[in-house]
Amino acid sequence: MKNIDKISLENAFRLFESGDINKIEVGSTKGLQMIHKYLFQDLYPFSGNIRTQNIAKGGFRFANSLYLTEALAKIEQMPENSFEEIIAKYIEMNIAHPFMEGNGRSMRIWLDMILKKRLSKVVNWQLVDKIRYMQAMERSPINDLELKTLLQAHLTSDINNREIIFKGIEQSYYYEGYRAE
Ligand SMILES: Nc1ncnc2c1ncn2[C@@H]1O[C@H](COP(=O)(O)OP(=O)(O)OP(=O)(O)O)[C@@H](O)[C@H]1O
Ligand SMILES: [Mg+2]
Repeated sequence: MKNIDKISLENAFRLFESGDINKIEVGSTKGLQMIHKYLFQDLYPFSGNIRTQNIAKGGFRFANSLYLTEALAKIEQMPENSFEEIIAKYIEMNIAHPFMEGNGRSMRIWLDMILKKRLSKVVNWQLVDKIRYMQAMERSPINDLELKTLLQAHLTSDINNREIIFKGIEQSYYYEGYRAE
């Protein structure tokens, strides 16, 4: 792991350890920006800031930066009443990919906060296989079934279990570094 990612991982641990996570707005673009800023403050000059350049991954072009602000305003208004609705919202936010880097790690925390608030559940990321997850994410703009099946199978109601939270963050950072290309 690169040093920058190690420092960011410590920031992520501190976000939960300090209880600062509870001060972050759930389900909004602003909340996601707060998470990103917390994780990447002093590491990326763009921490917490919406990108103004276009980006792609594995041949997939994320939302054009020209329309990003409008897209984010619509996405944050998407409903969160069921697991299906929450995953649909997560997929749209991934298609928006608001930051130059660090989207995956910020968004997995953002997703967990929505699941926790609305369903009293979180994803047990330790049990979510890296390759299967990345393939499901790559597939998700076209078909959401794989992602829904994978995450549904690893939801847990043990939301205050420190081991699940901290091992999950470690696993989320381990996803980084995977390259489809
Ligand atoms: N081809 C793709 N199509 C759609 N989504 C993708 C694709 N490849 C990766 N993703 C999603 O984007 C995330 C990577 O985005 P980004 O590099 O900005 O985030 P990161 O936090 O730096 O990396 P990582 O998510 O690997 O930890 C992946 O975690 C996955 O959720
Ligand atoms: Mg990355």
